[in-house]
Amino acid sequence: MEVITVANNKGGVGKTMQCYQLVCHLAHKGNKVLVIDLDSQANLSSTFGVQIQRTLIPEWLIGDIEAEEVVVPIDGGDEFHDNISLIPASRHLANLSKLMILSEAEIRKGAGRKERLLKIRLEAIAENYDYVVIDTPPMLGDELIMSLVASNRILIPTQAQDYSIDGLEELMDTFEIIKETENPKLKFNIIPSMVNARRKIEKQRLEELSQSFSITPPIRNLVQMQESISTKKPVFMMGKKTKGADDYKRLWKSLNL
Ligand SMILES: Nc1ncnc2c1ncn2[C@@H]1O[C@H](COP(=O)(O)OP(=O)(O)OP(=O)(O)O)[C@@H](O)[C@H]1O
Ligand SMILES: [Mg+2]
Repeated sequence: MEVITVANNKGGVGKTMQCYQLVCHLAHKGNKVLVIDLDSQANLSSTFGVQIQRTLIPEWLIGDIEAEEVVVPIDGGDEFHDNISLIPASRHLANLSKLMILSEAEIRKGAGRKERLLKIRLEAIAENYDYVVIDTPPMLGDELIMSLVASNRILIPTQAQDYSIDGLEELMDTFEIIKETENPKLKFNIIPSMVNARRKIEKQRLEELSQSFSITPPIRNLVQMQESISTKKPVFMMGKKTKGADDYKRLWKSLNL
């Protein structure tokens, strides 16, 4: 089982888009995929057609309930959707940090450090899935730390703009700390996201970015990507020759996914 977290502390950079396309791609290839929505905005859950009143993720993390009680199947209408299971989010998840503090004594008794909780829960169900894909909120909070501890790799969508590139440094510091302390095998990939390469300044920023990090082929800013979300169809179902399908095909190849 490979655990992949999609993260960036900057908002609106295409994290949820990346998760949606990745999950559908992996499931379409025949993999069993568990999707975990750790963002209280619950955008990924609703893209998979699931809206719930109150998520049970905190109860699952502290071990009060089993995975079967938080996982829901999704009903997308296509055959590959049968390969996807979802742990949905709700607004309630915004209180995750507070809930974890309240449960801290209990957590210490049971599982040790709270940043390891997700890892422990996933290890218990590793046999059921080929991949776990985690969407995270735009901040460096408990959700992200737990995900980094539990993951094999982190995909970082980044816009080719100044503020995005500045924010990346903070995330990379967190990555390094987790790698040194909890998860030495953690890898990362930086994915240029929503790129308009015809803009000179974006091209320049991409070049600068590639001097500091190795970056993947970019995903362009395309109207069809937004259509993919609103029609709830991954790009590979929107016609083989579309630019979005092309971009993702190149990306998956470069990531061996
Ligand atoms: N390649 C793209 N081309 C055009 N629009 C895109 C692309 N990727 C994402 N978008 C759109 O940009 C918006 C933000 O994307 P998304 O929700 O995936 O970002 P996010 O990083 O998950 O945001 P948040 O930090 O709020 O969770 C959405 O409306 C999405 O449809
Ligand atoms: Mg999102």
